[in-house]
Amino acid sequence: MIKNKKLIVANWKMNPTTLAEAKKLFEGIKKTASKVRNTQTVICPPSVYLSELKKFYFGHKIAFGAQDVFWEKDGPYTGEQSPEMIKDIGAKYVIIGHSERRERGETNEMVNKKVIASLKEGLNVILCIGEKVRDLQALYLKFLEEEIRSALLGAQKKNIHNLIIAYEPIWAIGKTADNAIFPHQMHEMYIFIKKIITGFYDKKLAFSVPILYGGSVESYNAELLLTQGEADGFLVGHNSLNSSKFGEILKIADNS
Ligand code: PGA
Repeated sequence: MIKNKKLIVANWKMNPTTLAEAKKLFEGIKKTASKVRNTQTVICPPSVYLSELKKFYFGHKIAFGAQDVFWEKDGPYTGEQSPEMIKDIGAKYVIIGHSERRERGETNEMVNKKVIASLKEGLNVILCIGEKVRDLQALYLKFLEEEIRSALLGAQKKNIHNLIIAYEPIWAIGKTADNAIFPHQMHEMYIFIKKIITGFYDKKLAFSVPILYGGSVESYNAELLLTQGEADGFLVGHNSLNSSKFGEILKIADNS
């Protein structure tokens, strides 16, 4: 992972519908991604497109990632893919524990196994955490702490340099900038997450873990989330499916 650069991750989710469209979208994003200097672009397409896209891109400005992974190396696990397989096709990142997967049955234990197996393999793990709602007693902070604690259970300190945390409050996903987090709230979460990781390891290591924000990031809110919110980058969903909107976010990140 390239330190001191903003990390802008495109999470295409289950889009677009054809490989031809995926190639077109990739080409569109490449135009801006190849020009930015202080920003690392990571594209996480559906895994069926991953090796196809990787095959015809030889540059280093764009890195690739998978949207999920399984913890076993190989064997009778229909539909799954291992960290080794992801690495073998040239992808360097993997998103783990996205709320859309947790919603459909992924537990903290499963997230933990995926994190451990992927870190061991040397993949950069983008661990997603996020609360459904914010309650007045701030119990959601306990919930987030538990998501981080359980995900990192048994993780070796020497592998933490490959960890990235994506804070994605579920209430802010898939909407518009007006519904996203405010920069001062992001700043609070940045400090909160760093504190928790400091508790598990140490301050120096905690401060080396990039904290991304995800949930309705657009060009409208990107700059302040990076400058005032202190986000180290973004996990971008629906706006990564539009190359000009995503390009705008890349440019803002590059100049922030
Ligand atoms: P969004 O999605 O940008 O569409 O809100 C972010 C995500 O779910 O990773």
